[in-house]
Amino acid sequence: HFGSREAIWLFGYGSLIWKADFAYRARRPALIEGYARRFWQGSHDHRGTPEAPGRVATLIHQPGSRCLGMAYLIGPEVLAPLDLREKNGYLRERVTLHFLDNDLADNDQPDVDDPLDDDGLTTARTAEGLVYIAGDANPAYLGDASDDSIAEQIAHAHGPSGPNSDYLLHLADALHAMGGEDDHVFGLATALRRRMRQAATHPATTD
Ligand code: BEZ
Repeated sequence: HFGSREAIWLFGYGSLIWKADFAYRARRPALIEGYARRFWQGSHDHRGTPEAPGRVATLIHQPGSRCLGMAYLIGPEVLAPLDLREKNGYLRERVTLHFLDNDLADNDQPDVDDPLDDDGLTTARTAEGLVYIAGDANPAYLGDASDDSIAEQIAHAHGPSGPNSDYLLHLADALHAMGGEDDHVFGLATALRRRMRQAATHPATTD
């Protein structure tokens, strides 16, 4: 149960991996088990338009899979604005976070010299948290498609938050920098880069 005064761990697996536009008390790489990241959610308001919707990440439940991301320790006051996301089809789910910064987690005892650590919140190996997931019942859901057709759609989509291609390539770079593996994201990034190279050399055949 998340009391109104407690700090909360939020698990980010999309743009939250490389940027957070809210105040947070701690940020730690983490993974969640039983989930896989998929570019199956449509975006007509951030990374696309109603005429040319983009595709952004959501999670599917997949036993045996793991999803690498970034966890943020936030105050409850940060959650209200984040809940606006629910309007775009994302619903909150509770998850167990497994932190990956094991040097921090080596010591299971709270460090009394660290003011952030007075309750062990930044040194534990696991924590309960929440994640926003867009499921197949929401109206913007697009679902599965081939890597090439997803890359094609992403290449054509631009929205108020920028080109959809930036979102995918940023995510792939950030996951790579964290040493993570994500066949879906890396496969899409490869397909998109191939398409961008083709568009640069044969502009007439790819647009
Ligand atoms: C994310 O970056 O993890 C994210 C952002 C918005 C909704 C759901 C997830």
